Amino acid sequence: MRVAIPKERWPGELRVAASPETVKKLVGLGLDVTVEKGAGTGAAVPDASFKEAGATIASDAKSTLADADIVFKVRPPQDAAEVGLMKSGALLIGLMAPHQSQEQIASCASQGVTTFAMELLPRITRAQTMDVLSSQSNLAGYRAVIDAAAEFGRAFPMMMTAAGTVAPARVFIMGAGVAGLQAIATARRLGGVVSATDVRQAAGEQVESLGAKFIMVEIADLETEAGYAREMTEEEKQKQAELVASHIEGQDVVITTALIPGRPAPRLVTKQMVQSMRPGSVLVDLAVEAGGNVEGSKADKVVTVGGVKILSYANMPSRVAVDASQLYARNLLNFLTPLIDPDSKTLKIDWEDEIVAATLLTRDGQVVHPDLAKTPTEPASESQADEAPAASGGEAEAAPDEPDAPEPGEKEED
Ligand code: NAI
Repeated sequence: MRVAIPKERWPGELRVAASPETVKKLVGLGLDVTVEKGAGTGAAVPDASFKEAGATIASDAKSTLADADIVFKVRPPQDAAEVGLMKSGALLIGLMAPHQSQEQIASCASQGVTTFAMELLPRITRAQTMDVLSSQSNLAGYRAVIDAAAEFGRAFPMMMTAAGTVAPARVFIMGAGVAGLQAIATARRLGGVVSATDVRQAAGEQVESLGAKFIMVEIADLETEAGYAREMTEEEKQKQAELVASHIEGQDVVITTALIPGRPAPRLVTKQMVQSMRPGSVLVDLAVEAGGNVEGSKADKVVTVGGVKILSYANMPSRVAVDASQLYARNLLNFLTPLIDPDSKTLKIDWEDEIVAATLLTRDGQVVHPDLAKTPTEPASESQADEAPAASGGEAEAAPDEPDAPEPGEKEED
């Protein structure tokens, strides 16, 4: 059986779905591996390293995919033409942005490709080593702080010098999930004075164990059974807005990471709150792909409002492409390994398995995932199609915001 790793084609995507280490392990499982020429360039992996690990290098996407039984990707196929390069019966495994890529998913079904969406992995212990949302969000949280520090015209740590004392940066993290907790840890390592908020009470202990102050609105715990947050009521939103408004004006750096699966990201910071911050302050909106937590944030732009900068990168994990690729590649290897029979070295899939069932999008010519399936190969219901970009750990396409012109006092840079 052959595993193919094509070069990613989404604009700005630097990650690759394999590393020399995982290629070696795939070969050890008895599989042949083909990597497209230049697939690893953005993640600093030369073709020669893949070759040394046991892969064959193919010159283009067509020859990479032609006889592949299994295809590893970071992003969904861009269109039906890309899907058409895969053979019927192939397995496609990657981040499929299921709510935003319904046309491509329908094409996979018509092509007879069996598709797995890694972002739908259940958060169960057995799946932890395959958890792409965690591996990528963790790096995104880290990078958000580094990006903020680079834009901040002041230092993070307190410094006592002969010329005077430099005050430490006050950093506020909104949403203390995987990305938020890593942002807290990173900001603390840089010497910032860190506070954080979430709507799940369990997050409080984790925040405090990292040495940050936890602030939470006095409302019911919003944690769902799956461990995610549910959407707030209007009354809860109002209470949270009051708390945020009073806290944010004293902050120098704000990183927002709040997401609700399958829903638009909650709007946590209004323009008025941004304007209440001191000039020179920096916000990073990690939820921009899901519609944004910060009013006025724009994907891949630096928006300046009254001297306060709002940064929002649509694909933060790609800004740490080397580590992001290595972890992502291991996640995919760990997902595939139990699907391979060690004796026959062929696929042996238990379709009833919780992990398989939760991630399976297309099989036998049909879209089969309950959130997407309507009739065979037909795009899903309008309500799903109309849904705002799903919170998918930074993997969905950019929010469908119109690129409106900056208002007076606002500036936009790429
Ligand atoms: P996420 O990416 O869906 O959301 C990020 C954070 O935003 C969450 O902590 C959420 O509670 C928070 N949030 C949502 N609405 C908010 C609002 N209005 N104001 C403030 N914060 C808000 O979450 P993520 O990072 O994927 O983690 C979700 C859960 O999964 C957590 O409970 C985490 O501990 C758990 N988890 C479990 C794993 C496992 O294998 N068992 C692995 C990774 C995460």
